[in-house]
Amino acid sequence: MRVVLGVGGGIAAYKSAELVRALQQRGHEVQVLMTRAAEEFIRPLTFAALTGRKVITGLWAGDGSQDTLSSAVEHIGVAQENDLLVVAPATADLLAKFAHGLADDFLSTLYLAFTGPVVFAPAMNTAMWEHPATQDNLNALRARGCSFVDPDEGWLACGTVGAGRLADPLRIADHIDSHSHRKKDLAGEFILVTAGPTQEALDPVRYISNRSSGKMGYAIAEVAAKRGADVLLVSGPVNLPVPHNVERISVRTAQEMREAVLNHLAEASIIIKSAAVADYYLAEVPQHKLKKTATRLSLELDPTPDILAELGERKGDRLLVGFAAETDNLIEEARRKMTAKKCDMLVANLVNRDGLGFESDQNEVEIITRSGQTVHAGPADKKEIAERILDQVAVLRLVLRAVDTTRLTQRT
Ligand code: PMT
Repeated sequence: MRVVLGVGGGIAAYKSAELVRALQQRGHEVQVLMTRAAEEFIRPLTFAALTGRKVITGLWAGDGSQDTLSSAVEHIGVAQENDLLVVAPATADLLAKFAHGLADDFLSTLYLAFTGPVVFAPAMNTAMWEHPATQDNLNALRARGCSFVDPDEGWLACGTVGAGRLADPLRIADHIDSHSHRKKDLAGEFILVTAGPTQEALDPVRYISNRSSGKMGYAIAEVAAKRGADVLLVSGPVNLPVPHNVERISVRTAQEMREAVLNHLAEASIIIKSAAVADYYLAEVPQHKLKKTATRLSLELDPTPDILAELGERKGDRLLVGFAAETDNLIEEARRKMTAKKCDMLVANLVNRDGLGFESDQNEVEIITRSGQTVHAGPADKKEIAERILDQVAVLRLVLRAVDTTRLTQRT
């Protein structure tokens, strides 16, 4: 793969030289491009020696740089010639520029002209990383389909300890590598993903819900779209941007989720039910706010429709993937749910561990397939978990197609 590496102006710029090496060792061709600020931290000669290529530096032709390759249109050529753009280190300033579409130097202009996958490896001080402005910029870029190799935690150049250190170059190279192997293996599939919690009203201002943030389901939707699928995301109330190339239908209650899913069942070839649907609801919601009294309040709740179980009955030849959130007997409970709800695959996660499952960016799961095989994934970022789940989905889809073809051939 031809990779263009944009080096930003941060203390971690020297690690980009290691990244060049790691990419070359994996067989990628690397073109380095440095911002003016990056040149304050490392000399272009280092990259030129490593790549055997002239390094793109400076702003535009005529800006005074001696070895600049820039010209008014050269960024278009670089955009067209390369398969992937990686920016490492991606500073807070660069991320803000990319998020807002500023184009005042070669790298920011290249970003706008680039249509292939874009990877950012941010590095900055912890407070800058955690600042809402930076997080908003990250979310905007994620929603556009850019991927991130999040910074590591550790000692930072500013003398503090925290998140913000450029990820290990080998980890960045592995991430980039995964793009080169990434086939559009889900092209032609219509994947319906459910995500987030549902909210069941108790009165006009109160509801029952759960801790689901939607991150797991949104990661699956995002990765499925990147792997070529048409993706419809039926989402409970969450605070996440719609992933790139994904269509979202927003719902609130289990009943609304059921309707949205069934309305689109005909189009779907694969259904992935990662939503944490409330199990109970109040059938007769009072019109007025329940008054607080000194006595105990009892509410009689009814079970919500079990959408997954209904899909199990009506799925036809669609591939149905359920989830199970358990606190004990993970595999046993997951297998029981898989059989009861007639799923082809079930993703089981323990949800009573800190930093995994509900709300967190990380998860660890057991993927149980129809054949009874169990594949372990994680602990890892939910996008990585989504990749592993979709790997199993892609394999099972192929197997089911092959079985169908064999049946058809035997009949004719
Ligand atoms: O959203 P995050 O913060 O990222 O957290 C991710 C997650 C923990 C919510 C996710 O990984 C997960 O486990 N989702 C399933 C949660 C759940 O409701 O599990 P369950 O074991 O109660 O339900 C089993 C399956 O039945 C699920 O596929 C669920 O969508 C489905 N179900 C449940 C009840 C119901 N009334 N209708 C359903 O379709």
